[in-house]
Amino acid sequence: MKVGGKHTRTIWVEADQSIGTIDQTQLPHRYATIRIETAEDAARAIATMQVRGAPLIGAAAAYGMALAARQDPSDAALERAYAALLATRPTAINLKWALDEMMAALRNRARAERVAAAYQRAEQIADEDVEINAAIGRHGLKLIEEIAGKKKPGAPVNVLTHCNAGWLATVDWGTATSAIYQAHDKGLPVHVWVDETRPRNQGASLTAWELGQQGVAHTVIPDNTGGHLMQHGEVDIAIVGTDRVTAQGDVANKIGTYLKALAAKDNNVPFYVALPSPTIDFAVVDGVNEIPIEERGADEVTTMTGRTADGRIESVRVVPEGSNVANYGFDVTPARLVTGLITERGVLAATRAALAAAFPERVTDPSARPRESGNPEPRTGFPLTRE
Ligand code: MRU
Repeated sequence: MKVGGKHTRTIWVEADQSIGTIDQTQLPHRYATIRIETAEDAARAIATMQVRGAPLIGAAAAYGMALAARQDPSDAALERAYAALLATRPTAINLKWALDEMMAALRNRARAERVAAAYQRAEQIADEDVEINAAIGRHGLKLIEEIAGKKKPGAPVNVLTHCNAGWLATVDWGTATSAIYQAHDKGLPVHVWVDETRPRNQGASLTAWELGQQGVAHTVIPDNTGGHLMQHGEVDIAIVGTDRVTAQGDVANKIGTYLKALAAKDNNVPFYVALPSPTIDFAVVDGVNEIPIEERGADEVTTMTGRTADGRIESVRVVPEGSNVANYGFDVTPARLVTGLITERGVLAATRAALAAAFPERVTDPSARPRESGNPEPRTGFPLTRE
């Protein structure tokens, strides 16, 4: 995707083998890049959400393992880096997937070969993400074209999306946005309703910014607006991303996604979820009870950050001192509310049979995996620890 008209990926290897990425906590006010020099830096960038979005978290963790190998390629050091990176965020399964891929690529190699092998595998993970997302977009494009074909010529297809499942959340293209960008590139009129996505405002700050960079028409709406728009025929299709899809097609995504899916069901609006296959967790079946839901610091709810008229970035408190606050990062949309899963292998029903048929090589036996805790104790700040 383009930044200031120039094609840019969200993560890259610098000449000195450190990792470059965009500091997403500065957007939309400032486009700033950061250098990640060590596995600890990578873990910090993921935990503080300078780097975020399930596929990009996976790629950043993979590069974090390469940085760890560069520092110390011993088994003990790699295991420490694996554990530190895995502990950063509990819901996006892409993180564990990427770390396991890296361990598989390094475990049986001689120490002297590990650094080169680690950079190579991390680069492959990043490149594959780009290819997968481009394919997701091609399949999703057909859905948009179908809707456009039923509308008056020239009338825009109105897509509602939640959070940022865009270019910034991946290495390139985005998942939910990939079809939107491909439709736009083809000259199809598309307009995106962008949920602001409190508390961190990934929609208002990130999705709106990147759609603007690509010249895609969009309107930012407060999170509670989608139902009203759907009742009035203003949403043709909802497309969201996901941090984890279970074997039966339940979908964890940014908090508030479930409410949009309920409203979509009530209004016969097709509700699609776009995902790369590393987001599927075949070892988990019942998403509501089995997917660990991240709880983040109260400060994300009690304060809001923005730019003042004279250009300063300031945080202000919006909740009374003394009020209790809950900050669940994700919710789970049951498969019955999902019209279809847009994957790199086509649009699938959100069912166990369809997922297993499309990705047979990923199917695992759920009983073979230790259960993760469903609902960790509320957390009030960093460091985040996994129960
Ligand atoms: O907490 P975040 O900003 O990392 O959450 C991101 C989302 O919920 C995205 O929708 C999801 O990771 C899919 S990104 C292609």
